[in-house]
Amino acid sequence: MSKIGIIGAMELEVAALKKQMPCENKLTCAGMEFWEGKLNDVSVVIVQSGIGKVLAGICVQILADKFQVTHVINTGVAGSLNASLDIGDIVVSQDAVYHDFDVTKLGYAPGQVPGRDTVSFAADPALIAAAVESCERVNPDIQCVVGRVTSGDQFISDQETKERIIRMFGGFCAEMEGCAIAQAATANGIPFVIIRAISDKADDSAQMDYPAFEKAAAHHSALLVADMVKMI
Ligand code: ADE
Repeated sequence: MSKIGIIGAMELEVAALKKQMPCENKLTCAGMEFWEGKLNDVSVVIVQSGIGKVLAGICVQILADKFQVTHVINTGVAGSLNASLDIGDIVVSQDAVYHDFDVTKLGYAPGQVPGRDTVSFAADPALIAAAVESCERVNPDIQCVVGRVTSGDQFISDQETKERIIRMFGGFCAEMEGCAIAQAATANGIPFVIIRAISDKADDSAQMDYPAFEKAAAHHSALLVADMVKMI
């Protein structure tokens, strides 16, 4: 039987999902509220992790230890790194990398976590396929791409930083938790996928666009997640 951990960093990224699900069991741990229940008849645990890599990693570990989740889905918003993506479009993670993990001075590749032989963390193919299928069903007018998600403890809001990330990592979007969720899920042998709706272009317009579009973008991602759990 599957039990799916659904993580959003911010309240608005999980609010729509919580609204659809009566909470059967609530646990507060590490300052996070874990809501257990049935979403579209599927066992899930919905949690707002808070922002950034550390909280995201802690959150996955709690989902693994206290709830024995079988899958992890990260839902939320992101800044676009690809000119073909518009605000509101969806990125489903092929893989995730850290854009701010740098041990290059000791001979590692940019983003590489020492002890691992690849730079990226690969998302689960079945979860990717389910996300794409759901997106076509619930968000038919929205573009959905499968590609790399880049993460770091930084809100990307200038052209130079954006270009550096694209040059070095080639991702489709930048956000602040996905790769930490990917790393922690991988460490626990739990399949994961990251689903992010574009709220801004991660450039000099990001500070203006983000507050204007985050809510609608987060809603696109949550809609998709509520549908895809039925296919896991
Ligand atoms: N989340 C949404 N937009 C973002 C950005 N530009 N940088 C990092 N995280 C984000």
